[in-house]
Amino acid sequence: MTAEAQIADATGPIVDMGELSDYADARRLTAVEPGTHALTLTWSDGEQASFHYVWLRDHCACTECRHPQTHERMFRLVDLPAEIPAPSARITDMGALALDWPAMTGIDAHRSLFDPGWLRQRADDDGGPMTTAIEPVPWDAGFAEELPIIDHHAFMHTDAGLHDWLTGMMRSGLVLLRNGPTEEGEVLRAAERIGWPRETNFGRHFDVVSKPNPNNAAYTAAALEPHVDLPNWERSPDYQFLYCLANEAEGGASVFTDGVAVAEALRAEDPEGFRVLSETPIDFRFQDETADLAMRTPVIELDDAGRPTRIRFNNWIRDTLRVPGHQVEPFYRAYRRYWELLRDPRYTVRFTLRPGEMIAFDNLRVLHGRDAFDPNTGHRQLQGCYLDRDLLRSRLRVLARGSAPGAG
Ligand SMILES: [Fe+2]
Repeated sequence: MTAEAQIADATGPIVDMGELSDYADARRLTAVEPGTHALTLTWSDGEQASFHYVWLRDHCACTECRHPQTHERMFRLVDLPAEIPAPSARITDMGALALDWPAMTGIDAHRSLFDPGWLRQRADDDGGPMTTAIEPVPWDAGFAEELPIIDHHAFMHTDAGLHDWLTGMMRSGLVLLRNGPTEEGEVLRAAERIGWPRETNFGRHFDVVSKPNPNNAAYTAAALEPHVDLPNWERSPDYQFLYCLANEAEGGASVFTDGVAVAEALRAEDPEGFRVLSETPIDFRFQDETADLAMRTPVIELDDAGRPTRIRFNNWIRDTLRVPGHQVEPFYRAYRRYWELLRDPRYTVRFTLRPGEMIAFDNLRVLHGRDAFDPNTGHRQLQGCYLDRDLLRSRLRVLARGSAPGAG
């Protein structure tokens, strides 16, 4: 296909950039000013941006440079000289950018076409991930009134229901699904609405019921202190789904806490305790006949800006405390205070799951627990599974196709 033949009609994209996300934009290019290493573009609304020649050559979207089916890059920068000669540049009648690269020793001349909307998206790019950014919003006990509740049918069968669930999860890390069937395996069907469930040492999915020979506290009828699942894995599961099939036993209410918000509360009242929990690596470990899964890491993990981003709190799989002697008491003091705050009714949301309801939560941020229940008073069965964050983000990006601002 020649480059000119890629030109489409004026309402959609002008140049096929081999990109499935929407980039059509009514704003066209009106001028190009070549420089030594880069050129400066002007759009019809007066905005300007510069792009380096080497960047433009690397991002050529012709069918030789970008595979038309896989949309993957075929162009190999290493095949060209380190100093790429400047192309001749012009704005086409349609307001796109056309570049003619001169022939070099052993390399043919080449033409690249760029869609003005595609370039504009990248001119505005702040270097963050190319997705709809949804900032997490911290919460406390008052969140019980705002908990996102999505109808099971809407989640499973409509884009709007799925979108509400995904955005609610990104924002608050806790979403309730309601009015679903009480069928075995429904938790997997719900997870598969988004992606492939993540298998662990507890299987592709697991049953939370009291068992005769439990290998984990969840399989007893005891109360469960607030915790995240599998902090003993380097890659703990990002999200957990818990689907209620039966809940006739007395007790067993579910309890949730925003561990990141509580970490900030700890920092506010006890900066030293916060520092200890975010700087002291400790051990987490699960052992049974076939597995010994262990990880050494701090309880509170910080990002580059010093903000808590993930929590590793799970008292029953915390292993031997191996820290220098002078750190033992400060560690226990900080750990105890954080634990008290995690249990504090000011920060917890508590409710009883009903059959056909599914609670899902961000397992890196939101701690879950439950009250003790009496297995002699009735059957209680939840089914659970895990899902990776990549798959939530992917689903959201795919949903966003065709709904970007300025879509033609
Ligand atoms: Fe758990």
